[in-house]
Amino acid sequence: MSETVNIPLNILTKEEKYKCLIPQINALVEGEKDFIANLSNIIAALKYGMNFFWVGVYFVKDDKLVLGPFQGPVACTRIAYGKGVCGACWKESKTIIVGNVDKFPGHIACSSESKSEIVLPIIKDDKVALVLDIDSDRLNTFDSIDQYFLEEITHLIETLF
Ligand code: SME
Repeated sequence: MSETVNIPLNILTKEEKYKCLIPQINALVEGEKDFIANLSNIIAALKYGMNFFWVGVYFVKDDKLVLGPFQGPVACTRIAYGKGVCGACWKESKTIIVGNVDKFPGHIACSSESKSEIVLPIIKDDKVALVLDIDSDRLNTFDSIDQYFLEEITHLIETLF
């Protein structure tokens, strides 16, 4: 009888999980040209690969952010420029990490279970075109390791437009 060696994924560090996931994400989008299809799969891979509470995007449409593909509980559909963490990311055009959403002035609570958050801009023609929003149901989930690997993913998304 042959023996199977199972590697328990929960012993991997966060960095190791991202390092496993990113080649899978690259493979997922290879050969597919449809932007929404690729974006949807990247979001699902992040949600289930990293076990986040909510992962999704908001598109810049005129003067609002409008909800795009996501995985997780239902979310607010429109966010104004500069409002909440997503609107602040759009305004400042930079990644924002929030360790405790209750301490972020103007945070928009789509779910009371969301405790910490990271939002990253995705740029087209030197402007924010969409933001990638990730929520955790635990405090202080996101740090510079998440920022580093998630920015790798947002830069990949920028090549898919
Ligand atoms: N918390 C976000 C709103 C989007 S939901 O988290 C999905 C914000 O403050 O912009």
